[in-house]
Amino acid sequence: MIIILTVLHDERLSDKKLTILMSTILLVNCVGIAPERIANFAELPPNLPSKIIRVNLMSCIKMIELILPGMLKRDAGVIVNVSSVTGWRPLPYMSTYPASKAAMSFFSDTLTDEFGHTNVKVNCLIPLLVATKIASYNEEEANDIVVIKTETYARQAVRLIGNYRISTGCLLHDIQKTDKILSKRL
Ligand SMILES: NC(=O)c1ccc[n+]([C@@H]2O[C@H](COP(=O)([O-])OP(=O)(O)OC[C@H]3O[C@@H](n4cnc5c(N)ncnc54)[C@H](OP(=O)(O)O)[C@@H]3O)[C@@H](O)[C@H]2O)c1
Repeated sequence: MIIILTVLHDERLSDKKLTILMSTILLVNCVGIAPERIANFAELPPNLPSKIIRVNLMSCIKMIELILPGMLKRDAGVIVNVSSVTGWRPLPYMSTYPASKAAMSFFSDTLTDEFGHTNVKVNCLIPLLVATKIASYNEEEANDIVVIKTETYARQAVRLIGNYRISTGCLLHDIQKTDKILSKRL
């Protein structure tokens, strides 16, 4: 069953929401925003850099705070954190988005180790280009070579859930980044 649940920052959770959160078996942290154009830090719209960190990183950590205890109690569950290849190195004129993703990758990788002795698995997906709003590509522009169609990516990434601690999520991205991103089994 899929339940769409909104949790506000610092919200006092009702018993019903707590029960749902405590029984979650799969958490996919895939929220993300990026600047609409490439610009230096001072040229970005006011408050956008801190908003990117809040949305891309803090919200995901908050979700893990809420859901991990229940998974550990039941000794079962999978957390998928969606990072980005932009987080592999500093990227001038994008600054905050790659920084949020680098933090996500580091954070995810450490959680995998911390809970490696349990049946709670933590995966990190590190995609390159997929045809979505955040990448400013639409499906018509996707060729499944460099820019991957959303359905192609989703079909391949879903098969990795629970199996790999770090992966690009799809074969063509693996080929493009074989020097850096080698899929590591849990
Ligand atoms: N596409 C790529 O090439 C690519 C590459 C590397 C990594 N990623 C990562 O993949 C993840 C998924 O992105 P996507 O490619 O599917 O792009 P997307 O289509 O733009 O999806 C972003 C998602 O984040 C949600 N979101 C944004 N701001 C939010 C907020 N303040 N509160 C709640 N939800 C919010 C959006 O919800 P609404 O639809 O309701 O706005 C949407 O579901 C992101 O973490 C992104 O950084 C994407």
